[in-house]
Amino acid sequence: MLEPADRRYGPAPLPQPRGPLSAAVAGALRRPPHDLPAGLGADLDPADPLADEDLQLTLFLCYELHYRGWRGVDEGWEWQPTLLALRARAERPFEAALRRLGAPPPLPPGGVASGLAELVAADDGPPLAATLQRRADLAQFREFVAHRSVYHLREADPHSWALPRLGGPAKAALVEIQTDEYGNGRLDRMHAELFRRTLDRLGLDTGYGAYLDAVPAVTLATNNVMSLFGLHRRLRGALLGHLAAFEMTSSVPNRRYGNGLRRLGLDEVATRFYDEHVEADAVHEQIAVHDLCGGLVRVEPALAGDVLFGAAAALAVDRLFAVHLLGSWAAGRSSLRARTALTVSLPATVSAAAGPLAGVA
Ligand SMILES: [Fe+2]
Ligand SMILES: [Fe+2]
Repeated sequence: MLEPADRRYGPAPLPQPRGPLSAAVAGALRRPPHDLPAGLGADLDPADPLADEDLQLTLFLCYELHYRGWRGVDEGWEWQPTLLALRARAERPFEAALRRLGAPPPLPPGGVASGLAELVAADDGPPLAATLQRRADLAQFREFVAHRSVYHLREADPHSWALPRLGGPAKAALVEIQTDEYGNGRLDRMHAELFRRTLDRLGLDTGYGAYLDAVPAVTLATNNVMSLFGLHRRLRGALLGHLAAFEMTSSVPNRRYGNGLRRLGLDEVATRFYDEHVEADAVHEQIAVHDLCGGLVRVEPALAGDVLFGAAAALAVDRLFAVHLLGSWAAGRSSLRARTALTVSLPATVSAAAGPLAGVA
């Protein structure tokens, strides 16, 4: 069920607003670039920025202008000064919440590599990967994949923002990792394209941003944290720390995800994305810790704390994501905002190929 190219690669249609601020921004974006009302968002003071649907969607609306843009939205909005000012107002409580949640420990004597290892070792997130491996049913697995599609269909893009901001060994290390993520320049091996096949095999919508309306604030936050770090040069250390934490906590969970899909009867086309990451990320972990983050800190020692902050923030937001999914499922609820979002009609050829998925909503 592959999509026409514009649906497949974006831009996505504007999502539905989730409150007054995202409604004002989405409404403005439908018109040619113009100044937003003075003071819009000036009273922004969300109690829980990471769980605030209106704030997270507002940030996502602003950030996406720097990726694929939005369907039907004038590209001139990307650098519209009053929209950038509003984004800065929305980023303040978001970044403050991340700094509270992801406050890194002091740099240990072993340096940034030891600091990253200690953070990951101390990570006590709930067992989302083990649940998907052993117990989740197909509907729950599809929910998980729908949540992750927001990121995986543009996998690696946020960390690429670091490339022009680095030189020397750290840049070479990032290029080495990103080259793998982008399939060494082969479309069919790009990780985003491998994930598209997983979506397709699960009977899910393979369109870019197809599940934006379905995913809650915490899922948007896992994406927004990468965009925040990626779009601010001052946060380049945090961006690299974020990538290191990703790679350090990827290999084992991806083995579990693949095994979970096999338990549910899915074939190797569906599991390929996860299988690919088992070995690739075991290698990426070493590059990210020693060559990327280590390389950066050797040149800019003052950024060591930022590297650990980025890693701690990545782990903390991912922990909230896992808590949300497992909590929803334990309560017998969908983890998505709209369960109907996963109901897709499969063409006959795909239904036949999908085998065990036929008829699953
Ligand atoms: Fe990847
Ligand atoms: Fe990787």
